[in-house]
Amino acid sequence: MTPVITRKRRSRSPDETESLAGALGARLGPGDLVALIGDLGAGKTVFARGLGAGLGVMSGVKSPTFVLVREYAGRCPVLHADAYRLDGESDWEGLGLDERQADSVVIVEWADRVLDHMGAPAVTVRIEDGATDEERFLTVTGPSSLLEGLFETGEG
Ligand SMILES: Nc1ncnc2c1ncn2[C@@H]1O[C@H](COP(=O)(O)OP(=O)(O)O)[C@@H](O)[C@H]1O
Ligand SMILES: [Mg+2]
Repeated sequence: MTPVITRKRRSRSPDETESLAGALGARLGPGDLVALIGDLGAGKTVFARGLGAGLGVMSGVKSPTFVLVREYAGRCPVLHADAYRLDGESDWEGLGLDERQADSVVIVEWADRVLDHMGAPAVTVRIEDGATDEERFLTVTGPSSLLEGLFETGEG
């Protein structure tokens, strides 16, 4: 077990959030589960798009709100889910993500709604509003093996 660490960054624009997320996505691989937590409009989907880019997904990642799960081909399968409308364990299991997690990167928006049902996330990302329209605060928690040096100069 590597120690769990937290990295914090201010973002001043959607592009900056996307590029910061890209630096994290570049470090992820099969079996990694990413929990995205933040209010409506915080930037979870923007962050997921950046993760996808870092994982080699060529098309832009879109919100899975209505389809619940979208799948992309990157360096490995990328499964992007929205838990906003899920209610309970059977809804979570219905997404079929547990079976596929070992081979994929799984990204879950509104993960706080299903934390009791999903497996332990490798990385948890909290996005909070700042003082201006485009300011956000990103807090990323996970093993130092994944996060060491993340968000330092030269990345994003
Ligand atoms: N720094 C920022 N990071 C991310 N999104 C931002 C930022 N500043 C403004 N935005 C805007 O906030 C919105 C975030 O939307 P979205 O990613 O769909 O949120 P969520 O998925 O959390 O509901 C987008 O319209 C985006 O352009
Ligand atoms: Mg979203």
